[in-house]
Parts: sequence; C-alpha cells; structure tokens
Amino acid sequence: MREKILIVDDERMILELTSMVLSSRGFDVSIVDNAFDSYNLIESEQPALVLLDYMMPKVNGLEALKEIRERFPETYVIMFTGKGSEEVAVELMKAGAADYILKPFINAKLVERIENVLRIRSIELRNKELVQEQERLLDEIERWNRELEERVELKTKELERAHHEILLTEKLAALGHLSAGMVHEIRNPLNSISLFAQVIRAGLENEPEMKSYSEKIITEVERIDAILVKLLSTSKRSPFQLRTIHIDDVIEKNLQPFLEQMQAQGVTLQKHLLKSTPSILADADELGQVFSNLFSNALFEMKQGGTLSVTLTHDNKEALVTVADTGGGIPEDHLNEIFDPFFTTKERGTGFGLSVVLRIVKTYAGRINVKSEEGSGTTFQIWLPLA
Ligand SMILES: Nc1ncnc2c1ncn2[C@@H]1O[C@H](COP(=O)(O)OP(=O)(O)OP(=O)(O)O)[C@@H](O)[C@H]1O
Ligand SMILES: [Mg+2]
Repeated sequence: MREKILIVDDERMILELTSMVLSSRGFDVSIVDNAFDSYNLIESEQPALVLLDYMMPKVNGLEALKEIRERFPETYVIMFTGKGSEEVAVELMKAGAADYILKPFINAKLVERIENVLRIRSIELRNKELVQEQERLLDEIERWNRELEERVELKTKELERAHHEILLTEKLAALGHLSAGMVHEIRNPLNSISLFAQVIRAGLENEPEMKSYSEKIITEVERIDAILVKLLSTSKRSPFQLRTIHIDDVIEKNLQPFLEQMQAQGVTLQKHLLKSTPSILADADELGQVFSNLFSNALFEMKQGGTLSVTLTHDNKEALVTVADTGGGIPEDHLNEIFDPFFTTKERGTGFGLSVVLRIVKTYAGRINVKSEEGSGTTFQIWLPLA
C-alpha cells in the first residue's frame, strides 16, 4: 500500500519539487500551499505523514503543528525549518513533531528521514493497538472475574439454603416423631378435662361466676388442643386425598375466611388470578393450609391497613403464586429462621405456620422464596409443579 503524504508549504517550487521526488519513490502525495486548508485535507485523506513548513505567512507553523497533532493523532508531522533555528526545532519536537528537516535539504536525506518516521509511526500505532487490546482483555478478564465471583456467591448462598433446608427437614422429622407420641398422650387427658369441665358447667346454671370459670377452662383447653393439632401438622402429614385441582379455586376458598378481617383492618385486596389455570394433583385442604398461613401472617402485619396482593401465573411446567403484603417486613437476620418450627416474634404465636407451609410445599416438590425489607413489606413466592 502506498503511504499518503501531504506537503504543506507556501513556496510553489518546494511543493512541486518535493512532490515529484516523493512520488517517484512510490508515495501517494498531495500538496497544499497553506496550513489553514491543510486541516480539511488531512481529515478527508488521513495521510500518514505531513511535511509542514515552519515559516509560512498567516498561520504560525508551531500552532499548525499543535493543531494537527491534537486533531489527528495518527498523522505524524515532519517540520521544515530554516537554517539557524535549532532552538525552534527543540520546541517543535516538544510540541509533537516526529522530526525536523533544515531547508534546503538533500533529497536522499529527506526520503531517508521520511522512511524512518513512517517506520516509527507504524511501530507506535501497532503498539497503541496492542495496548488497547491489552486493556480490552484486562477489562474482559475483570468482567469474567466479577461474573465468576457473583456466581460463586450465588451458588454458596444456594448451598447454604439447601443445607439449612436439609437441617430443617431433619428437625421436623425428629419433632414429628416426638410430637406424634406426645400429642396423643396429652390429648386424651385433655379430652377428659374438657368433658368434666362441661359437666361442671352444666351444673352451675345458678352460679354465674363459677360457671364463667368453667367456661374459661373449656376455652383454654381448646386453645391447648389447637396448638397440639398445629404442632402435629408441622411435622406429620394428615390423611390426604390427591385429586386434580385448580390452584385458583384453592386460593379463593382460603381467602374467604379472611375477608371480614381485611375489611375490619382496612386492608385492600389485589387479586390477579389467571382464569383456567392448569390443574395440579394435590389435596385441596392440605394445599389450602399453605395459603391460609401466608394470609394470616400477612394480615397480622397490616393491623393499620395496607394491601394484600395475591397473584397466580404459570408457565408450562410450574404455577407461581405470589403473596405480598405491605406490612412491617422481616429483618434480614430473621430471614433464615422464619421457617424453623417454634420461631416466632409474636406473643401468642407458635412459630409453626411457616414450617407447615414449607413442609407442604416440599411434599408437592415445589419451591418457596421470600423477599422482604424491613419497613416495606414481604413477598412470598411459591412454585408448584403442574400435573
Ligand atoms: N408476612 C410477614 N411479614 C412479617 N413477618 C413475617 C411474615 N410472615 C412471617 N413472619 C415472621 O416469621 C415468623 C414465623 O412465622 P410463622 O407463621 O411460622 O409463625 P407465627 O406466625 O409467629 O406463629 P403462628 O403461625 O403459629 O401464628 C413470625 O413470627 C414473623 O416474625
Ligand atoms: Mg403464622
């Protein structure tokens, strides 16, 4: 490829002679007789080299040099200077000239200097390319590293969660074993207490104060019984019947008992349930416990009102139910514990609700995820495989 050279000189003779010499040496030469017009030419032709006269009327050679170097960094400049201007030469080199040639010059020398500068230019440009390439590669490596770190972090979190879930499952199994026996033992005497208390109550029609005490006994016994039933259900599956059911029906049915409470607390319900959701194989009552526990927790958090959003979507493999509230949220350091049996922050809570939820979701080979920020509400997502 012929290298392009632009000669800028106000002397016609120099322009023509130099142009002839360089063309005969195989360069692609253009000429212009003033610096001012050279800029447009450089922009359009992008010459490798400009031979620029230092002494020209109108435009100062040094200024022209600076302008060219600044605007076209890939175009190198050799300056022509008059004899006796060596200090000027130093200044020119500082301002970015690749070389300078004293006028009048010997043609052979000129060509030699030009070839030299072009060689240096091509090395420098290649160097610049390599540096850029290196920077790009470094950037890419950094990006990969970051990606890798993120993936490791994600995997670690997933592993931790899986590990936690295994521990939890084991805990629930042990608890189930223990509680099944204990609950059975406790419920029998409890049943007797309740029966006798009812007998006593029947005999106290004329003593209202005493009667109210026996009623208290009955209510408290009922409360203990409810706790025992709940304890049992965290760990042990009750008798179930699998049927083809629609999740939207289950959600609707389990929302019903909460409607009154919602109205009383000033909670708005936002329901987005897809009509005609594909069916899944499950026990409707069992699956219903998942939603009623989530609704109950959500409403507990919105005593001063708020919004309960229930959304149901699906792809061709899973249904996704989202239950979101605008309550107080869950502090970050509780997030790992909320599914533990007995973990509760409520005065009268058992801490069984979410254990039951998790157990049932796992029973149906589903997944559960919780997102929460203190102060801005909580969102539970539940994925269930379709039939
Ligand atoms: N929607 C929610 N917003 C804020 N905190 C929640 C929410 N759901 C659960 N939690 C937190 O998780 C804890 C455990 O919930 P879980 O349902 O297992 O038990 P509980 O609600 O405390 O007791 P119970 O379900 O027996 O009434 C709660 O005490 C509460 O701190
Ligand atoms: Mg609960």
